[in-house]
Amino acid sequence: MGSVVSTQESNFAPHLEVEGSRPLSGYIQVSGAKNSALALMAASLLTEKTVEIKNIPSLTDIDVMRRILLELGIKIKREKNTLLIDPEKLRHIELPQRLVHRLRASFFCIGPLLARLGRAKVPLPGGCQIGLRPVDEHIQGLKALGAKVDLEKDMIIASLTGNKKRLTAAKIVLNCPSVGATETILMAAVLAEGTTKIYNSAKEPEIQDLANMLNSMGARIAGAGTSEITINGVQKLNGCVHSAIPDRIEAGTYLIAAAITRSPLLIGPVISSHLNALLRKLRDCGCDIKEEGNSIRIIPGEIKGVDIKTDPFPGFPTDLQAPFMALMTTAKGKSEINETIFENRMQHVGELQKMGASIKLKGSKALIKGVAELKGNDLTAGDLRASAAIILASLSAKGTSKIKGLHHLDRGYENFEEKLSKVGCNIYRRNELLIHKNISSCELATQNNLPIKQAAA
Ligand code: EPZ
Repeated sequence: MGSVVSTQESNFAPHLEVEGSRPLSGYIQVSGAKNSALALMAASLLTEKTVEIKNIPSLTDIDVMRRILLELGIKIKREKNTLLIDPEKLRHIELPQRLVHRLRASFFCIGPLLARLGRAKVPLPGGCQIGLRPVDEHIQGLKALGAKVDLEKDMIIASLTGNKKRLTAAKIVLNCPSVGATETILMAAVLAEGTTKIYNSAKEPEIQDLANMLNSMGARIAGAGTSEITINGVQKLNGCVHSAIPDRIEAGTYLIAAAITRSPLLIGPVISSHLNALLRKLRDCGCDIKEEGNSIRIIPGEIKGVDIKTDPFPGFPTDLQAPFMALMTTAKGKSEINETIFENRMQHVGELQKMGASIKLKGSKALIKGVAELKGNDLTAGDLRASAAIILASLSAKGTSKIKGLHHLDRGYENFEEKLSKVGCNIYRRNELLIHKNISSCELATQNNLPIKQAAA
């Protein structure tokens, strides 16, 4: 048993209370893309000039990345949803272990640190709730660009060899279209000597957004968003003012919220071409979808079961697999959901079953039989997208649900409950005082699905 927690915040177990079966109506505003913002922040390390990035959501992941950049010597200020970054004083090449373990995406800094300072020390990010998350493709790419990359006690040390001042361009063929590896290689290659080609590159919109910002800083990148990217290296980059694209995964989550509550909603701003795979499946399962300017209006009809298989972009996004499964639990008929990207991204299944969903799981394939109605319950989220899925299910369920594990939700969804309240949800964030229970940090951690150290932090 751990010691009794003494700090104030650890005596509270935040949870959401959601009253289900309420119809929704109105407009939900979409924030800037988390997975774009994290790469754009890392890319600011590539220049000495000021970088202004707009449309940055307030999320814990973004705040951890901001703290990492500060520890590297960068000046960074947030003004509403704009980050003002002055990277001139970049001095340190080592990322702090305690922050890297909280944010895998901090690994994106290795390419820029290597390209700008010729050296980088980044703790191995390790796996997370959804899978092993190896970084072998990142490392192979950096080695191809002429870096020496060693692993010493879970620390990756990358450096230029000999008396080289710059990385050297290369032809790199990825074994798998990894989003992160494509971004790491892209950011390292923009300052390399010569022309680099990346084959089998990932095509996600966040990569195009990163390339657009780098090109506005003076980089020479062509082909971002396709499976073949060409980078003509330059000596230096300038500053820029850039706005992150809207978050397609957040937008998709709210479109599914409309479908699961059978409510018409308007969601925006979106770039609809970023959502084609989801929009196709929402139409197939019985929703009328209309584009209205830079928003999407969804009018759900009777929802029937459809099969999905997750794939790299432009296929069905793995980040919307859990929310879409929530929708399928009350669809008419059967559906099959096949998760092909991550090996452990089915943690929401157990929580949906607690609400009465009929799901049979075989590895990463879920066979769902739609039920008439889910029932509210006490639920715990195990990862970011599972937290959204469980809340969406509770919106449609009969009765009230209590949902813990909100630290996962707050990583990737800005003002989630406020945005849902605005369209008619009865959803409240409560802090259950635990101090009277004299609860230990072990129990607190277990209840909130937190690693012990985090609960006691
Ligand atoms: C990015 O993760 C996103 N995160 C993920 O979003 C998203 O699910 C994923 O891309 C897929 O679209 C950010 O952008 C910060 P990958 P990333 O490298 O880059 C294997 C969310 O919920 N792989 O494309 O880590 C890997 O194991 C998060 O917002 C290697 O084998 O994803 C996985 O099976 C979750 N070797 C597959 O590729 C490598 O070196 C896809 O991973 C790298 C990846």
